[in-house]
Amino acid sequence: MKIATKISEVRAQVREWKMQGLTVGLVPTMGYLHEGHASLVRKSVSMCDRTVASVFVNPTQFGPNEDLDTYPRDFDHDCALLEKEGCDMVFHPDPSEMYPEGFCTYVENLSDMPKTLCGKTRPIHFRGVCTVVSKLFHIVTPDKAFFGQKDAQQLAIVRRMVADLSFGIEIVGCPIVREEDGLAKSSRNTYLSPEERKAALVLSKAVFLGQKMIREGQKDADAIVAAQRELIMKEPLARIDYVSAVDGSTLEPVKEVKKDVLFAMAVYIGKTRLIDNFSVEA
Ligand code: PAJ
Repeated sequence: MKIATKISEVRAQVREWKMQGLTVGLVPTMGYLHEGHASLVRKSVSMCDRTVASVFVNPTQFGPNEDLDTYPRDFDHDCALLEKEGCDMVFHPDPSEMYPEGFCTYVENLSDMPKTLCGKTRPIHFRGVCTVVSKLFHIVTPDKAFFGQKDAQQLAIVRRMVADLSFGIEIVGCPIVREEDGLAKSSRNTYLSPEERKAALVLSKAVFLGQKMIREGQKDADAIVAAQRELIMKEPLARIDYVSAVDGSTLEPVKEVKKDVLFAMAVYIGKTRLIDNFSVEA
């Protein structure tokens, strides 16, 4: 597996692949990779001739009081995982490579999409995500790019951006990978103490409760959200940021359960903010 730290190295390699008529998949990540990321790489390897993963803790998507400095990093472990999954190249730039001196051009969705859900507490987050993902798309020029449903708001905003700005890249959404006990895999799970790790199960329990209510015929989205909130509030270490039912594409609030409704939540467990969600399938 090739390790590239410069934009020019990525461009040269991708140019070569494209000259050979090969298709390219991109898996953007911030590293500290786990089985969730691995599932994206596997999907790309299965759908594309060559796979590029990026490992870059993107400073522009972190707010001033967020965990940019403490975000977990382990590039050697990341490379081992990527290589094992069949990734062909990892792009691991320095911040100065992505954000040259004088950088002042951003990609921003001006609708309410980045203001709702996680955007309420993270006002600049999705501007940073759209900007870095646009840059990665321009650098790698992939045929397909792979994103997890775990970050459902991010996935919806990236899909909107690709349509609005005519990127001509297929966005492939991939299911949430969970620990055996249900907790959605996340690089931030490492912040949890053993006691908090147990308490964190309220998120997946709330997801499974919502899914069960729908299987049993509940059509009122507010009733599901209320039941999820009630369950989460029983956990003393948990503090709800939001629990919401929205349209999976527009992220506008919905009242009725139907296909593509997204039930999403963010919950603080101690100081750690965790997210989880599910979408209504048929
Ligand atoms: P990161 O949090 O590292 O996640 C990278 C990708 O892995 C995202 O598409 C995310 O949804 C997916 N992912 C994370 N946990 C997952 C899980 N348990 N199951 C399935 N997929 C999972 O998301 C980012 O990085 C950044 O915002 C990025 C897009 C790289 C831009 O900086």
